[in-house]
Amino acid sequence: MENLVDIIRRMPKAELHLHIEGTFEPELMFKIAQRNHIQLKYGSVDELRKAYQFNNLQDFLDIYYEGARVLQTEEDFYDLTWAYLERAHTDGVLHTEIFFDPQTHEANGVQFKTVISGIHAALRDGYEKLGITSCLIMSFLRHLDESAAITLLNEALPYREMITAVGLDSSERGNPPEKFERVFSMAREYGFLTVAHAGEEGSAENITNTVELLKVARIDHGNSCLDDKKLVNLLVERQIPLTLCPLSNLKLKVVGQLEDHPLSKMLQLGLMVTVNSDDPAYFGGYVNENYIAIAKALNLDRNQIYKIARNSFEASFLPLSIRKKYISLLDDQFIK
Ligand code: HPA
Ligand code: ZN
Repeated sequence: MENLVDIIRRMPKAELHLHIEGTFEPELMFKIAQRNHIQLKYGSVDELRKAYQFNNLQDFLDIYYEGARVLQTEEDFYDLTWAYLERAHTDGVLHTEIFFDPQTHEANGVQFKTVISGIHAALRDGYEKLGITSCLIMSFLRHLDESAAITLLNEALPYREMITAVGLDSSERGNPPEKFERVFSMAREYGFLTVAHAGEEGSAENITNTVELLKVARIDHGNSCLDDKKLVNLLVERQIPLTLCPLSNLKLKVVGQLEDHPLSKMLQLGLMVTVNSDDPAYFGGYVNENYIAIAKALNLDRNQIYKIARNSFEASFLPLSIRKKYISLLDDQFIK
């Protein structure tokens, strides 16, 4: 196992499910709060960390939105994104596809331009200084109306070149994919790729509707797909990737213990699964910790780890030539 941990740490990988607001480490949150003269609810970094006791998605989201309140300037978004990129780089991440939630920041009086300019500047530096390739996925908050999502989509059009895909996150319960059929159709017409969270706290039916109605290129999470054989067949046939997040699932009690995580079964069935960190500052681990924890819990072998890392590139939105280049770097390390 020790050997496999070393392999995981150094192997090239892509991260495909990562909310930039979810990388906000308490230390940086305090620093930025001070800079912006914002009073946090908690007196210290330790107190804040202790508050990270979630039992479900909603409890987590309440704290996550509270933390995001601190982010006000372009520099704040730059610093947040840069800190993540440096960390991802040490984890062997060659490519990352990052969610951002403009509606969260607009509710705090922060303009779209401020958010995207700060994030984008850091991504450019990430490529120039660290060699990390990246793309951005603009997420709609599903607890808000579809009309708000349409307003956001129109606002994003001048920045079309900076955004690869649109996504759908926040509370799945009570906010099914049907609610966003129109805005996803508009986004596709504008040339955006689409992804959506589904089957995290929601049913297999939510996943089916996400595939059929929103015509997504990937499903974020997708844990509950195993409840429906027909859906599994469809996901396998079309090789629609699932961006799994084991430590997130554990923290939000989507699974009681990691040993019960469906990843092994999914691999066995031929589903295109990937491993990601979701909101690493809140869920106790970046991408390598997710790989290591799930490998230990499910007793994954070298071939399974290779397959998951390879899937991370196959499932990415990179051009084929770069995907091939990254996979050959992965092969170099595995064949040694
Ligand atoms: N699920 C849904 N919405 C989110 C998450 C998540 O894990 N993280 C940030 N927004
Ligand atoms: Zn997520």
